[in-house]
Amino acid sequence: MKFDTKVVRAGIKPDPTTGAIVPPMYQTATYVLPEVGRDLGFDYTRSANPTRQLMEENLAAIEGGKYGAAFASGMASVDSCMKLLKSGDHVVCSDDVYGGVSRHFDNILVNYGLSFTYVDSTDPANVEGAIKPETRMIWIETPTNPLLKITDLYAVGKIAKKHNLFYGVDSTFATPVYLRPLEYGADMVVHSTTKYISGHNQLIGGIVITNREDIFEEMRYVQKTIGAVPSPFDCWLTLLGVKTLHLRMEKHSQNGQIVAQFLENHPKVARVTYPGLESHLQHTIAKEQMSGYTGMISFELTGGIQAGKKLMNNVQLCSLAESLGAVETMITHPATMTHVDVPREEREARGLTDGLVRISVGIEDPEDIISDLKQALEKA
Ligand SMILES: Cc1ncc(COP(=O)(O)O)c(C=O)c1O
Repeated sequence: MKFDTKVVRAGIKPDPTTGAIVPPMYQTATYVLPEVGRDLGFDYTRSANPTRQLMEENLAAIEGGKYGAAFASGMASVDSCMKLLKSGDHVVCSDDVYGGVSRHFDNILVNYGLSFTYVDSTDPANVEGAIKPETRMIWIETPTNPLLKITDLYAVGKIAKKHNLFYGVDSTFATPVYLRPLEYGADMVVHSTTKYISGHNQLIGGIVITNREDIFEEMRYVQKTIGAVPSPFDCWLTLLGVKTLHLRMEKHSQNGQIVAQFLENHPKVARVTYPGLESHLQHTIAKEQMSGYTGMISFELTGGIQAGKKLMNNVQLCSLAESLGAVETMITHPATMTHVDVPREEREARGLTDGLVRISVGIEDPEDIISDLKQALEKA
């Protein structure tokens, strides 16, 4: 099956009893056993559920992986990957990860004996340089949230292999439409399905996709044992949302490029970061590794934080909101919203200034998005 066909069809069959083209939702906690010691493939929804299984198979096929394990959020998916580790293990991690990820690593997982070194993974030598005898995993986010840094996944994959490390990639921003990290040597790919994959701001969810049976077994065990699994309804909604993923991404990318160019040429804008712009520091690797650049842009105004706040307070069509990757254009202030828990010095060292604005360009008409930004920029 070609990619676009997989998005719509992979794993989906008409309901055998009614012919319903949309798979029914199995909103059930448990399953009646025909006899002691024998079930019909399902025994309790924390362990497995037919609607969840369908979604896991569909997303795994789209990502080009054998196995998918769904969780109740992107964060629960990241956490589940960390369950592959033991106390004393060390992780080398991209330095510009989503603030919720670094909050989890630095404030929770360190209490369980894990340690983390953050490096600018745009240079693979930094990743290799941070490896210690106790390192067990490399964790890469690409493009990063919010600075849209791109890591050369193939180069880092070679390092992971050489040092026999787990290699995890958070590919939430890129989506399998534009990047499939398993093809570059990743052992597991994580998505917050809250974002582009479900696409309509309708749910919170996540998934881990892998070709490795041992990793999948562990993810299944974590699902069953800890239970941070999505509801059947959220899985069903994700299955509906994902059917248009390829079409939405095309429009997000077209609009993203138009808005990034508009911002780059605006006198009040000091700096724009968008992988589709030639000015992006990793534009070359982005071009090689990704087949599109999404709707994610970050930028700073010449007037700094005050101007940025005025812009965000004056948008009318764009929504001032956490999250990204949905059909609506959303504007976010990372320093007070998504990355508020990253200490200020660390934020500044990373280039995540108080004046940084992140925009998730939606699929509205780009003229409307630009005229909204124009009027808000006039007030900034
Ligand atoms: C790159 C990335 N990974 C993971 C997450 C966490 O996902 P969720 O909000 O679904 O827990 C986010 C959330 O913004 C994210 O941007």
